[in-house]
Amino acid sequence: MAALIVLFAVLCSCWQVYAQQPLITFNQSAGALLLADGSTAPTILVSNDEWAGVRRAAEDFAQDVGRVTGVNGTVTSFNSSFATSSSSPVVIAGTVGKSSLISQLVQQGKINVDATRGQWEAYQIQVVTSPIKGVQSAVVIAGADKRGTIYGIYDLSEQMGVSPWYWWADVAAMPQHSVYIMNTTKIQPSPSVRYRGFFLNDEQPALTNWINTRYAPGKYGPGFNHLFYSTVFELLLRLRANYLWPAQWGSMFDVDDPLNPATADEYGIVMGTSHTEPMMRATNEQSKFMNGTWAWATNRANVTEFMRQGAERAKPYESLYTMGMRGLGDVASPTLNSSSLETIVNVQQGLLREVYNISNVSAIPQMWCLYKEVGGYFADGMDVPEDITLLWSDDNWANMQRLPLSNETGRSGGAGIYYHADYVGDPRDYKWIDTNSLQKYWSELQQAYDRQARTIWILNVGDLKPMEVPIGYFLSAAYDAPSLASPNSTYTWLSQWVARQFGSEIADTTATILLNYSMYAARRKYELVDPTTYSIINYNEAGNVLQQWTDLVNAASKIYNQLDTSLQPSYFELVLHKCMAGYIVYSIHVNAARNNLYEEQGRSSTNALAQTVLNNFAQDHALTQRYHQQLNGKWNHMMDQTHLGYYYWQQPMRNSLPPLGYVQQQEIAASGQLGVTCDGNNGTVPGDDVYHTLSSNVLTLPPMDPYGPSRWIELFSRGTDAVNFKVSSEPHITVTPSSGVLQANGNSTDIRLTVSVDWTHAPNGSTISTINITTTTPTGKYLNGTYPYGNFNMPQLSVPVNKTSVPTSFHGFVESDRTISIEPEHFSANVSANGNGNGTGSAYYQVIPSYGRTLSGVGLLPFTAPSQHATTSTSPKLVYNFYTFTPNVTNANLTLYAGTAMNTDPSRPLKYAVSIDDAAPKTIQPNPLTHLWPLPDMWDGMVANAAMTNTTTHDLGKPGAHTLNLWLLEPGLIVQKLVLDLGGVRESYLGPPESRIV
Ligand SMILES: *[C@@H]1O[C@H](CO)[C@@H](O)[C@H](O)[C@H]1NC(C)=O
Repeated sequence: MAALIVLFAVLCSCWQVYAQQPLITFNQSAGALLLADGSTAPTILVSNDEWAGVRRAAEDFAQDVGRVTGVNGTVTSFNSSFATSSSSPVVIAGTVGKSSLISQLVQQGKINVDATRGQWEAYQIQVVTSPIKGVQSAVVIAGADKRGTIYGIYDLSEQMGVSPWYWWADVAAMPQHSVYIMNTTKIQPSPSVRYRGFFLNDEQPALTNWINTRYAPGKYGPGFNHLFYSTVFELLLRLRANYLWPAQWGSMFDVDDPLNPATADEYGIVMGTSHTEPMMRATNEQSKFMNGTWAWATNRANVTEFMRQGAERAKPYESLYTMGMRGLGDVASPTLNSSSLETIVNVQQGLLREVYNISNVSAIPQMWCLYKEVGGYFADGMDVPEDITLLWSDDNWANMQRLPLSNETGRSGGAGIYYHADYVGDPRDYKWIDTNSLQKYWSELQQAYDRQARTIWILNVGDLKPMEVPIGYFLSAAYDAPSLASPNSTYTWLSQWVARQFGSEIADTTATILLNYSMYAARRKYELVDPTTYSIINYNEAGNVLQQWTDLVNAASKIYNQLDTSLQPSYFELVLHKCMAGYIVYSIHVNAARNNLYEEQGRSSTNALAQTVLNNFAQDHALTQRYHQQLNGKWNHMMDQTHLGYYYWQQPMRNSLPPLGYVQQQEIAASGQLGVTCDGNNGTVPGDDVYHTLSSNVLTLPPMDPYGPSRWIELFSRGTDAVNFKVSSEPHITVTPSSGVLQANGNSTDIRLTVSVDWTHAPNGSTISTINITTTTPTGKYLNGTYPYGNFNMPQLSVPVNKTSVPTSFHGFVESDRTISIEPEHFSANVSANGNGNGTGSAYYQVIPSYGRTLSGVGLLPFTAPSQHATTSTSPKLVYNFYTFTPNVTNANLTLYAGTAMNTDPSRPLKYAVSIDDAAPKTIQPNPLTHLWPLPDMWDGMVANAAMTNTTTHDLGKPGAHTLNLWLLEPGLIVQKLVLDLGGVRESYLGPPESRIV
C-alpha cells in the first residue's frame, strides 16, 4: 500500500498538462484543507432547490471518497436552518442561479463567479473560509449551469483517483490515507465543443447478448433500460460528455423503458437519436408505430403526425433533434431528394414551433447529419436552415468527408462531426476490438476544431467496450482541443490517461504500448488481414510485423504480471487483451501463409505450422473466455463478435481459419530429404517447381551491396531422416551457420542461414558469387534406388554482389537493390524562402510520431494554412538527398504513401508536388473530387490499405547524387512513406524498409 501512495503523489505533479489544474494532494501542505481520511469523510452540502442531477452526482462523490479512503461522505440538504454538528470537512456544490446556497455565497461576497457566470458548462472550485455559519472552511464547487456543477464534482473525484471507467472498465481507485484540497481557485471555462458524446451502435452480437444476461427484457426488445443507461450516463458525465445517441437496432429508447428519457434528463444528458432517426423517434418505431409506411411521398400526413409525437414526447427533456429523413432502417430512401428534404425540414421546424409553442425555433438544438447519400443531397444544393447544425460525417473510416468552408462558419447552427470507432459496412465491418489510430484521430479532430466544427462531436462506439481508449481520447479532444493541439500531445495524453487508471510508474511504458498498438492495429483492420497481406518472402515483412506484436504482448504481459491484483482486471480490459488478441490474429494469418508456402515447398515443418495455427485458434477462444469469465463473468458476451474468416463486408457467421496444408511425413520427397530456398524467393532446389526452370538446382538471392541488408537462405527437411549439410563459397561471402544437421521433425527441421559479405575483400564492381550446399547423407529414395542427388544436382545459390560506394561528402539515402525507401521525417532539409521553414501563411511542416503504418507522418500545419504552390519560392519544401548507382534510369517510379484523407474543402483538394533535381515539379491530387456521395473508386483500396498511394515517373539522368523535392500543397495531406523504384522494388504490404542513410 505504501508504495502505491508514493506513486500517486508523484503522479500529481504532472496533472496540469492535460486540462486539469491540480486541486487534490495526498499530503498535508501549506493551506491545504483536509477533505477525507480513514476516520473523516466530508459532508457534501447541496441546497434543496438544486438540480436533482447535481444531488445525484454529489452522492457519487460521497461514495468516491469511500472508494479512496474507505469512509463514504454524506450528502446533506442545505436549508436556512442548517447547522453543522461536527467538524467534518465540508464540500458545497451548487449551480449559480439555481442553488440558494450558492446565491447566498455570491451575495455575501464569499465567492466571485464573474469569470464563469453564464458560460456553458463552466465551473469554479475554491476553498472558502467561513462560508456559512458553523463551518470554518469548505470547498465550494460552483457550476455556471447544471453540468458545470456536475463536471466540477467529477473533476474532484477523478483527481482523487476515481477513474471515469471505475465501473465500465473496473479501474480500482488507488487507496489513500488522506485527501487534501489545495488552497487555490480553479476556473474551468466552457468546453471546446458544445455537444460531446457517443453513439451506442448496438450491432449484434456483443452488447445485446451482454444486456440480455444482465437486464430484464424491455417491452419490445432487449433490456436497454434506465438501469443500464444510468451506467452510461454516469460514464459520459465523468468523461465530461453530455450527449448520447442511444442503441437503435433492437430497441426503442423512449418506448422500451419509459423511465429512460426522464433518467437521462435528470442525470444531465442531452438525448439525441442517430443520423437516421429524425425527430426523437427510434428506427424501430418507424416500422412499429407508424400508420402506413415510412414514405414521405405517399404517406406524408402520417409521417408528419409520427414526427409531431416525437417532439411532444421529448419536449419535457433536454433534447437535440435529428432533422431530415432517410429510408427505413439506415438506408437511402429511393424517393427522397434534396427538394423533398427541404420541405421535410420545413415541416419539422414547424412542428417544433407548434409543440414548443415558440416562434424562434433556433432556441431548440437541431442537427442534420450529412451522412452517406444525405451529403449528396447537400452537394446538390439542398438548402439547410442556418439554425440547424450541419453534422458532417466521416467516410465511416475516420476520414472526415467535409468540414465547414470559410463561408459556412458563420451559420448560427454551427457545424459538427459524426465519427466512427466501429463500423458495419463496406468494404468490411470493423466491430470486434479497437483498430483506431490515435494519431489519425489527432489529425482529423484537430482539423475539425480548427475548421470551426465545434457544435457537436459524436463518436460511433459500437458496443462501447472495448473502445475505452478512443472514447477517452475523442472526448478529451472535444472537451479541450487546444490542449491536444500538438501531435506530440497524443503520447502525453496517453501517458496521463494510463497514470490516472494505473499509476504513474507504468504510465510511460504503457503509453508506448498503447501508441504502438494503435499503429499496428490500424495498419489494416483485423477483418481485412489474411495470409496474403504481408510478404513472407520479401523484406522479412511478415516476420517483422509478427515480431512487433510479440514484443507488444511481452511488454504488456510483463507490466500486467507486476501489477497489484486489484489493477489486473482493468489492465487486461484496457491494455493486455487487445495486444494479445491482435497478436493471435496476426500469428494465425502469418503462420497460415507460411504453412501454405511450406506445403508447396514440401517442408516437413508444414504440419507443425498447421498445428501452430490450430493452437492460435484455441488461444483466440481461450482469450475470449478469459474476457468473459473474469470478475465473475461481468463482461460475459462482450467479446462474442466473430473476427476470423471474413470473405466479404459482412461478419462471418462463425470464426474459421484460412485453409491449412499438410505434407506426407511418412515418405521422402521425390527431390530428396534436403530442400533449399532463399530470401525473396518462393522456389526451392533441388527439384521442380513453378518458380524456376525444370531440374534447375540454382536459386538467385537478391543483390547484395554495402548499403543493403544481409540475406538469408533456408535449409529444410523434406524427408524422414536427419540430413547433414555444409556450405561453401568464396572467401568474401560469409554464411552462418556454415554446417549443421536438419532433423526430420522437432525443432531443427528448418535452419535459416545468414549471408553477409566482407566488403573489404569483395571484388570491385558487380560480380556474381556462388554458394554451394552439400550433404554426405544419402538424401532420398527415388523409385527403386537410393541416390544422393542422382537426378538432381546439389543445390546452389547465386549471389549478385555489387560493391558500391558513395563519396564521403554525400549525406542522404543510398540506393540498394534498385530501391530507395524514405521515412519522410528523415528529410535532408526543410527549405523555405525565409529560411525559417515557414511558408505562405506561416505554413510549416510538422512530424506526427506514430502516424501511418511504419514510423510517422509529416504534414503541413496549421490546418488553417492557405494553399501552397510548388512554383512559388515562398512555399516550404522538404528535400531528400539520395544517391543512385543504377545507370540510365529514365523511368524511376516514385510512390508516395499518404495517410488516408478526403477532400474536406472541395475548392482545395489535397495535392502534393514532387520533382527530382531540377526537373519541373509534377503535381498530384491523390483523391479525386466527388459529389460527397458516392465515394470515389479508389476509396475501398485506400481505407483497406490505410494509405493512399500515387506514383509519378521520373528521369534520373546519370547515377550519383540527386535530390527529391516534395511540397505538400494543402494541410490535411500527411505523407508517411516515399519509395523510389529503380526496378528493384519487391512485393510487400508496407513497402520496402527504409534505405540506409549516410
Ligand atoms: C459507501 O456507499 C455504498 C453505497 O451505499 C456502499 O455500497 C459502500 O459499502 C459504502 N462504503 C463504505 C466504505 O461504507
